[in-house]
Amino acid sequence: MAEAPSLLSLCTALVRDEIVRRDDVPPAVYNLPPDLLDALASQLPPLALENLQSGMPFELQNEDEYDNDCPKDGRKRRRYRNFNLAWKKNFNLRWSKLTDTIQAVDWQQMYWERHLQSCLDEAAEIASVPSFSKCIGEIEMSDSMLKYIASEGSVHLWCGKYRKLSYHCQQFGCYAQCLSLQSILCVSEICHLLTSCRLQTLVLRWIRFQEQVSGLCKLLNQNRETLTSLELIHCKLSSASVNSICDALLHNGKTHGVLHFSINASYFDETDPVALPSGLVSFLSLGRNLYSFKLCENFLGKNFGKHVFHTLLDASSCLSDLDLSENNMAGWLSKFNRRSLSGIPAFSIAGKSLQSLRVLNLRGNELRKDDADNLRYALAHIPNLEFLDISDNPIEDDGIRNLIPYFVEVSERSFPFADLNLENCELSCDGVTQLLNVLTTLRKPLRSLSLADNSLGSSVAAALGVFMRKSIQILNVEGIGLGPCGFQDLIEGITEGSNIVNINISKNRGGIEIATFLLKLLPGASDLVSVNASYNLMPVESLSIIRSALKSAKGNLKLLDLGGNNWDGQKADDSLFAEFQNGTRKILLDSSSPPLDGLYDGDP
Ligand SMILES: *[C@@H]1O[C@H](CO)[C@@H](O)[C@H](O)[C@H]1NC(C)=O
Ligand SMILES: *[C@@H]1O[C@H](CO)[C@@H](O)[C@H](O)[C@H]1NC(C)=O
Ligand SMILES: *[C@@H]1O[C@H](CO)[C@@H](O)[C@H](O)[C@H]1NC(C)=O
Ligand SMILES: *[C@@H]1O[C@H](CO)[C@@H](O)[C@H](O)[C@H]1NC(C)=O
Repeated sequence: MAEAPSLLSLCTALVRDEIVRRDDVPPAVYNLPPDLLDALASQLPPLALENLQSGMPFELQNEDEYDNDCPKDGRKRRRYRNFNLAWKKNFNLRWSKLTDTIQAVDWQQMYWERHLQSCLDEAAEIASVPSFSKCIGEIEMSDSMLKYIASEGSVHLWCGKYRKLSYHCQQFGCYAQCLSLQSILCVSEICHLLTSCRLQTLVLRWIRFQEQVSGLCKLLNQNRETLTSLELIHCKLSSASVNSICDALLHNGKTHGVLHFSINASYFDETDPVALPSGLVSFLSLGRNLYSFKLCENFLGKNFGKHVFHTLLDASSCLSDLDLSENNMAGWLSKFNRRSLSGIPAFSIAGKSLQSLRVLNLRGNELRKDDADNLRYALAHIPNLEFLDISDNPIEDDGIRNLIPYFVEVSERSFPFADLNLENCELSCDGVTQLLNVLTTLRKPLRSLSLADNSLGSSVAAALGVFMRKSIQILNVEGIGLGPCGFQDLIEGITEGSNIVNINISKNRGGIEIATFLLKLLPGASDLVSVNASYNLMPVESLSIIRSALKSAKGNLKLLDLGGNNWDGQKADDSLFAEFQNGTRKILLDSSSPPLDGLYDGDP
C-alpha cells in the first residue's frame, strides 16, 4: 500500500504549483522557516527557482554569500547558498552524465550557462537552413527546450517572448562565462543579444566570411575585459581577418588579457607568408599574460613557424606552452644555427630567450635531420624547457644524434629537461641505443620517454634494460618490435626498487616472455600504477605466471591491460583475476578493440 502523503508535502506541492503557475512568488513564501523554504526550492523547476531566488527579500540574504560577477538590474545577484543543492538537482535532471565531471561551485551559474549554450546550438541549427531569413533573436526554441526550464503547469511560458532566443540570451546571458558559437550566429546582432555576458572563454567554429569576422570582432571587443581564452576551429582566415581579430583583443592597442589562444584545423590564406599579419605580431608581442599559444593542423609552412618563433623571441615572451603541431614546417629554423645566428635581419635575437617556455610541441611537421640540428640551436634560447614532443617527424637516427648534445647540456640545469616524445620518428636500433647510452649516464635522468612505433627490434633491449634502472617514471615502448628475445634481455636489466610508474609494452609480440617480465618487474616496482601489455601474442599458459606476478605486486598497481592476446580461443574472462581486482584496481583481459592490421609484422 502506498504511504499517505503528509500534510506538509501536500502544502509544499500546492505552493510549488502556485509559484509555477504565476510568473512571480507570493511574498508570504519568504516568511517560511528556512528548512521549509529549502524543501520548496528543491521541488521547483529552474525558471520558478530563479524567480524564488531573485525575489528574495534583502533581510534573508547573507552578506557573505554575495556573488560579485553578475550585476542584474543594477543590483548584485543574490545567492542563497542553500539553493545551490536545488540547482544541482535541476542540473542533474537535465545533464545527469555531466554532473560528476563538473566541479561547480555555483550550480545556478552552471545551469543557465549550459542552458544558454543549448539554446544557441538549437538556434544555429535552425539558422543554417538556407531559407532562413529572420533575425536570430526571433528564433523560437522547441517545446523540449522550454520543458526543461518550466514545468507543464506554466501555460504562459509556452508562447510569446519565452519562446524566443532573445529572451534566453537577455535573461540568462549574465550567467554565461564560457560559450561556443557556430559562425552562423556571428552576425552583428549577436553582440546585442549577448550584451549581458561577461565571457571568459569563447570557442568559434566555421568562421569563413568577412561579416562573420566583424560579428566576432564586435563580440570580442565587448568581452575584452573578461576574456582569457579564445579558440578558433575549422575557420578560414585571411591576413586581414587575423589582424581584425587580434586588434579586437587589444586594449588601446597596448596590451591584452588573453591567456590561451588557439587556432585549430583552419585554413590561412597565406600559409607561408613573407611576414606575419601585423595584428598577430602585436598580439604575441604585447600579451604579457599569454600562457599558451596553439596553431595546430593549419597547414602552415616554414615561414609561418619561423616568424612566430622569432616574434616570440624578439619580444622575450612569457609564454609557457607553444604548440605548432600537425603543420608542414620543415626548414622553419633553417637559418637558426650558430653560423648565421647574428645575421638574421630585423631580429635582435642574440642574447634573447623564452625564459618561461616549458612545453614545445612540434609533432607531425615533416621535420628531418637538419631540422633536428637547427632545433638544437633554437633550444639554446629556451633555457627552461621541460617537455619536447617531436613525434611523427622522420628525423631518423642522424636527427636524434644531432640532438644528443642538447640532452647532455640540459641535464646540468637546476630544472632539468624531463619529458621527451620520439614516437614514430623513423629511428632504428643504432640511433636509439646511442641515445639511451647517453641518457643513462646523465646526472638528472628523464621523467618520461616515448620511443613507440619506431622499428627498433630486439637488439635495443640491452640498452633499454640499463636505462630502465635509472629513475625513468613513464616509458612507452609500444610497437618497437622487442619480441621474445628482447624481453629476455630486458628482464636482465630489471632491478629491485625501480621508479617506473607507467609502462606501455603493448604490440611487441613478446609472447610468454611478457609474463616472465612482469613476474620480475611487479614485486620490486612499488610506484607502478599502470602496465599496458596488450597485443603481445601471449599464450594461455602466461596467465598462471601473471597470477603469481600479481600476488607479489605492490598495492599501487591500478591497471594491467592484457587485452588483444587471443588466449588461444579460450575466452579468458575477468573473473579469472577477480581476486586481484577491486574498486581501485582493474585488470583487462578482453580488448574491446580488435587487433589492428599489420600489428604482428615480422621483426625488422
Ligand atoms: C585542436 O588541437 C588539439 C591539440 O592542441 C587537438 O587535441 C584537438 O583534437 C584539435 N581539435 C580539432 C577540432 O582539430
Ligand atoms: C602507452 O603508454 C604510455 C605511457 O604509459 C601512455 O601515455 C600511452 O597513452 C599508452 N598508449 C596507449 C595507446 O595506451
Ligand atoms: C593499451 O594499448 C592498446 C594498444 O595500443 C590500446 O588499444 C589500449 O587502449 C591501451 N590500454 C589502455 C588502458 O590505455
Ligand atoms: C585493492 O587491492 C589492493 C591490492 O590487493 C590493495 O592494496 C588495495 O588497498 C585495495 N583497495 C581497496 C579499495 O580495497
